[in-house]
Amino acid sequence: MTNQSHKTSVTNNLKLFSEAQQASLYVAHQIANLINEKEKQGKPAVLGLATGNTPKGVYQELIRLHQNEALSFKNVISFNLDEYYPILPDDQQSYTYFMRQFLFKHVDIKPEHTHIPHTDFSEEGIAQYCQEYEDKIESLGGLDLQLLGIGRNGHIGFNEPGSSFESKTRLVHLNSVTREDAKAAFGSMDKVPQKAISIGVDTISKAKKIILLALGKRKSDIMKLAIHGDVTTQVPASILQTLPQAEFVLDHGAAGEIKS
Ligand code: F6R
Repeated sequence: MTNQSHKTSVTNNLKLFSEAQQASLYVAHQIANLINEKEKQGKPAVLGLATGNTPKGVYQELIRLHQNEALSFKNVISFNLDEYYPILPDDQQSYTYFMRQFLFKHVDIKPEHTHIPHTDFSEEGIAQYCQEYEDKIESLGGLDLQLLGIGRNGHIGFNEPGSSFESKTRLVHLNSVTREDAKAAFGSMDKVPQKAISIGVDTISKAKKIILLALGKRKSDIMKLAIHGDVTTQVPASILQTLPQAEFVLDHGAAGEIKS
């Protein structure tokens, strides 16, 4: 794969918080505001959602807002970033299971409005499936807001280092850092899938608003590269430097190496 590298970065939208919880609340309220705004306009809120440890606090706050402050998800249409391949939706390591546990079963989102790449078929059907995933997002006018975490290798979604900035939804190979980080969830390295379906860097870049949330010291090295390093496919998150609609939200730990 080519190493596209260019340096034209726009000024970063960077928000630093001392605590992870404050950062999560900030992100949750951005999402809630968007949902309410869209509802007022009589339009659906099309959300790109992430899994992993990072967004758990965001989802917790969204659930609280639903239960205590009447935030409704009836007009939300969601698309998740990625899913392992192969995996069954009921497997506890699947992102389908994750989304059910950490958000969907606690709020009033319509099941038919939630989309997570399904991978319970042979590889031949995947290209067409991925195209349909892209088409569905496009037919709704694109993602209003994409929530991202970041891998220690700089991945966004499962767009691993080397992923083209023009990439779309597709079957990808997971790299060793990603698989190593997934080992705890799967129990051992040989149980971690080698592949996944991920929406592309281009798909993410077209979202009207993008929020990358990074929490904890283990993300500080990669955040320094993502924010201050070259814009390069070797650090897929670095593309966000060039996107005016992208915002980096960091807690104290993740911001450790960032120049203010
Ligand atoms: C998950 C995803 C990944 C994670 C990243 C960080 O849907 O797309 O890019 O956001 O691997 O994972 P955590 O939050 O567990 O550190």
